[in-house]
Amino acid sequence: MVGGGAREHAICDAVYRSKNADIYSVMHNLNPGIEFLSKEYLLEKETNIDRVLDYAKQKEIDLALIGPEAPLEAGLTDELNRNGINVCSPTSKAARIETDKEWMRNLLRKYGIHGQLKYETFTDIKKSRRFIEEFDGDVAIKPIGLTGGKGVKVSGDHFYGTDEAIEYVKKVIDERIGGKAKVLIEEKAIGEEFTLQAFSDGNSILPLHAVQDHKRLFSGDEGPNTGGMGSYSCANGLLPFLPRSSYEEAAAILQEIIEALNKENCEYIGPIYGQFMITAEGPKIIEINARLGDPEAMNVLPLLETDFIELCTAMLDGSLSNKKLRLNRKSTVCKYVVPEGYGINSMVGEKVLVDEKSIKNTGSKLFYASVNKKDNFVYTTSSRSLAVVGIADALADAEKICEDALSHVQGEHIFIRHDIGTEELIEKRMKHMKKLNVM
Ligand code: AMP
Ligand code: GLY
Repeated sequence: MVGGGAREHAICDAVYRSKNADIYSVMHNLNPGIEFLSKEYLLEKETNIDRVLDYAKQKEIDLALIGPEAPLEAGLTDELNRNGINVCSPTSKAARIETDKEWMRNLLRKYGIHGQLKYETFTDIKKSRRFIEEFDGDVAIKPIGLTGGKGVKVSGDHFYGTDEAIEYVKKVIDERIGGKAKVLIEEKAIGEEFTLQAFSDGNSILPLHAVQDHKRLFSGDEGPNTGGMGSYSCANGLLPFLPRSSYEEAAAILQEIIEALNKENCEYIGPIYGQFMITAEGPKIIEINARLGDPEAMNVLPLLETDFIELCTAMLDGSLSNKKLRLNRKSTVCKYVVPEGYGINSMVGEKVLVDEKSIKNTGSKLFYASVNKKDNFVYTTSSRSLAVVGIADALADAEKICEDALSHVQGEHIFIRHDIGTEELIEKRMKHMKKLNVM
């Protein structure tokens, strides 16, 4: 297992439930949850390919799983494969679907894939200005490469008017945010967002329950974008504002993408993640990620009833279409505990008391994220600290269970978005969709 976040803790948990396999982990921080489930671990940067490869060879690894995007981009899958190690994650070529937003949009354009947005890329500020001024509607401004989910700015949410738009375009180009002196400007999609994750064997996919993540830092969807503050899913696999037809359209889009990647000689093996906006014209593609989502993995993996290792094997040998995906039909609510100041200026090294036993007694799952463990305490880093997932038949009960569990996490300098999964927020989303005539 490569990665030290809550998503990776949830993946380890699925592996552990599956076969009681011996897990060897590589992570840059000492995640106590992963430490507990692992036979051994190596503390190392996940993008240090040589060290990870050496460790994998030394431990005679049968199957490698890579959680985060950075090692995918750095070519860890390719290097492990070259050394005869099976990897259930995409190669760097296939992962371009996430790591190069321009390439992703061009692929959708080339193959006429549904759900595309209008877009252009620019290296020139004057041309960017002309495009924005002449564009009929609002835009989103994106760096081309990876920014940890924090590089996108949307008109009306993060900036207002052409001058502020250009200010950000200039910043992205001048500071090479996302690795290139280039910017992607695309149509702003208006509606409600949802995530659809699926497993892919290169030819066919098995989609999981739809999830809604909450990117904005503060309650009521205010503040800067973050890696994700929490998420929920419903027992029927849909969302209160997501009809089955839109779910199926999104799954068909992911299937079209897998087929297009095949035609480009970029066979896609592993989990794939689609971020969609349901608009009045149906689901639109916001982004595609080459991995499970964080937090979204924590909504779906605990529900897996099909053996996870068997699913990974089927992804590797191309037999996914013969497999049945069984998911426990429960609702889930996941909320992250983050350090105070997260997304702006995190309070690092703060002590967090986690009463694991009481959390377990609530029936919730606890997944540690970017914390460091020292003498039975965990300490914050600049990223998200830990997540708690409430699971129940009804969404409202899952939310209550999650909150109950959160009362057993104490710290002077922690922050939680308590509105995630609440009836009030879901009502607001439904009203929004009705106003847009989507429902
Ligand atoms: P990303 O890093 O691509 O997930 O973008 C972060 C967030 O920005 C998304 O979750 C959306 O809420 C928002 N966003 C990105 N692209 C668009 C778009 N074209 N239209 C509207 N919102 C967007
Ligand atoms: N939850 C957003 C992501 O994993 O990219």
